Amino acid sequence: MGACEILPFAVTVVAVAAIASYIGHLAGCPALEARRSFAAFRTGSSPEMVTAVREFGRIVTRVAHRNRRHFMELTGKTIVITGASRGIGEAAARHFASHGGTVVLAARSGGRIEEIAQEIKAEGGEAMAIPCDVADAQAVQAMVDAAVSRTGRLDILINNAGLIDPIARIGESDIEAWGKVIDVNVKGVYHGLRYAIPVMVKQGAGTIINISSGAATGALEGWSHYCASKAAVLSLTKVADAEYREHGIRVCGLSPGTVATQMQKEIRASGINPVSQIDWSQHIPPEWVAKGLAWLATEGADGYLGTDFSLKTPEGRAAVGLPSAG
Ligand SMILES: NC(=O)c1ccc[n+]([C@@H]2O[C@H](COP(=O)([O-])OP(=O)(O)OC[C@H]3O[C@@H](n4cnc5c(N)ncnc54)[C@H](OP(=O)(O)O)[C@@H]3O)[C@@H](O)[C@H]2O)c1
Repeated sequence: MGACEILPFAVTVVAVAAIASYIGHLAGCPALEARRSFAAFRTGSSPEMVTAVREFGRIVTRVAHRNRRHFMELTGKTIVITGASRGIGEAAARHFASHGGTVVLAARSGGRIEEIAQEIKAEGGEAMAIPCDVADAQAVQAMVDAAVSRTGRLDILINNAGLIDPIARIGESDIEAWGKVIDVNVKGVYHGLRYAIPVMVKQGAGTIINISSGAATGALEGWSHYCASKAAVLSLTKVADAEYREHGIRVCGLSPGTVATQMQKEIRASGINPVSQIDWSQHIPPEWVAKGLAWLATEGADGYLGTDFSLKTPEGRAAVGLPSAG
């Protein structure tokens, strides 16, 4: 092949590769597949052709890498979301299903999660409802087992279920109710990690996102149970990352800021501490948090593994593609 023939040949190959990569992205396939399909060019070719093919390979790899950082490929993936009967969990279930994932909705309100699953399916998505109290280790084990036996895998776990009620200063707090918040917010997250991690280790991959809060590092009057629980969740995030990153498991937390959900209605009704005074218009919609969760499930968020990613900061909002923090 002469020098003047190499250029048009290389341009053609690169153009075809770019198109194949784009089609691969649209079809939800890793563009890396496109690269493999062109590997055949190498066999029995002249040195110039091999050089051109190598260049094409480099370009496709760059495109594939970029796609993996910015686009979610959820088709064929199973996403378990606890606390999916309303608020952030419900929004996340609808969002992940709309991107092609099979979502497993878990919460105590079996009727409500079943309704949401039916609505998702009516819109063409894949969803199933599995009633589960996350404070009950056996119930979480049964829920994870059912999700894996029905879908064959577990790719993403969102430990979202959480409580804040009753809000009270330590000296007036109800001992049993205080312990119940720890059972759900801390042990519930531990139970999710405990049963999802072995499945993900076996797969060699998986993402776990624990819903955190500014309360993990801050002190708020009346929230001793909630602050202590979210601090413990941040600690679980760090330890799980330290133990399992090398197994291909991505673990991080998401601190959403204040979100317009039932939980904020309960906080408002308490009248205790400045959070209860925040104007309702200042809370972000749960759909924004769902987008943040989806972004955290991509490699673009790898820098936040083992930490809490905050949706309150301008950087966090920009990374997810949300309007900047006010
Ligand atoms: N809203 C905010 O401003 C805000 C801010 C920071 C962090 N967060 C965190 O975000 C997460 C979701 O909160 P949200 O605002 O969406 O509150 P929400 O509307 O009150 O929803 C809480 C969800 O948790 C579920 N849940 C509670 N106890 C459960 C249990 N024992 N087992 C299984 N599911 C249980 C509830 O479902 P069932 O009652 O049907 O079980 C519900 O689906 C929580 O972890 C919360 O701490 C919220």
